[in-house]
Amino acid sequence: MDMEQKIAAAHEQFDKVIRSQLARVERMAEQKDFIDYDKLDKLTIGVCGGDGIGPVITKESARVLEYLLDDEVKSGKVEFKVIDGLTIEHRAEVGKAIPDDVLEELKQCPVILKGPTTTPRAGDPWPNIESANVAMRKELDLFANVRPVKVPEKGIDWTFYRENTEGAYALGSQGVHVTDDLSVDFTVTTTEGTERIARLAYEYAHKAKKGKVSIITKANVVKTTDGKFLKLCQEIGKEYPDIVTDDWYIDITTAKLIDEKRRRDFKVFILPNLYGDIITDEAAEFQGGVGTAGSANIGKRYAMFEAIHGSAPRMVAEGRDKYADPCSMLRATVMLLSHIGRQEKADLLEQALDICMFKEKKLVITGRDNGATCREFGDYVMETIKALQEQK
Ligand code: IPM
Ligand code: MG
Repeated sequence: MDMEQKIAAAHEQFDKVIRSQLARVERMAEQKDFIDYDKLDKLTIGVCGGDGIGPVITKESARVLEYLLDDEVKSGKVEFKVIDGLTIEHRAEVGKAIPDDVLEELKQCPVILKGPTTTPRAGDPWPNIESANVAMRKELDLFANVRPVKVPEKGIDWTFYRENTEGAYALGSQGVHVTDDLSVDFTVTTTEGTERIARLAYEYAHKAKKGKVSIITKANVVKTTDGKFLKLCQEIGKEYPDIVTDDWYIDITTAKLIDEKRRRDFKVFILPNLYGDIITDEAAEFQGGVGTAGSANIGKRYAMFEAIHGSAPRMVAEGRDKYADPCSMLRATVMLLSHIGRQEKADLLEQALDICMFKEKKLVITGRDNGATCREFGDYVMETIKALQEQK
């Protein structure tokens, strides 16, 4: 290919991604209200173990969830659907982020509990396919990634609203190597995509009386997309007079989270996708690491609950998967229960986790054989739930 042909090929790719994003904008505009779980005859909850440490930690969450919803399964209000096949082996075999049959099954479940999945990158033994997480968020339009981090004794009580379908992730697998020397990626911000995440964050801040929302961008440098994101979030903020809005750049935000005097002032954050990804790992570290942090991926029709971390292939390679920490998935299960309106059950599980992780700590997970196994910790949580139920 000569240079002109290379430029033409890049144009062609740009044309393709612009058209696909414009079609997405149309689809977003057509979306109606949020699903009402109470109106369903039966709520199907998909349980998808993923790969790496995924199946090990998901098993403990599924066990707790099945126990807590047992009466509703018996009365026919709730059913569980186990979804296999989201393993890296299967995805690599069919060359797709989510194999078609798995996607079909996922779409039958308005609510999904999902274990981590391995995300390939160039040089891995796997084909460099798109992340299953990212694909699922896009396919099911799970636009809000909600990630709470709490360390009560340090005054930390943060809730991150990470935009989950746009930003650097929207076309993360569709960049262009224009020539051997020039590569270009795309970042996407849409009006609807920004307004819907901002509205969800402000609604939460309003209902939970948080009093403050911080918008995090790098709008001084990434002027077009981050600039738009900041402006639209601020506009939505004006509709909430009970909430103080401030805005910070992502770089200084990473610093201020370490500043013990300032960090308590933060309450609710709204962030574009990539900044949200980065900063929630940092934030989780204050709480005991990513292994302790759950996350909700909320859309209008579907909701998916998962750990904030990846599949830890290193732990599996070193034979340590049985020592993986199930707390991230268990925290995600608290969010799931709360999201489907089973608040009492969510509170019960949360209380049990606070006892096991912070107050009583009869067992400690270290990720190695000097700590408890995932199963043992799951047993501990189950016993604690049952003890709490007996006290009532
Ligand atoms: C997360 C993860 C994912 C992401 C990976 C596994 C693709 O880091 O959920 O934060 O980047 O979003
Ligand atoms: Mg991440």
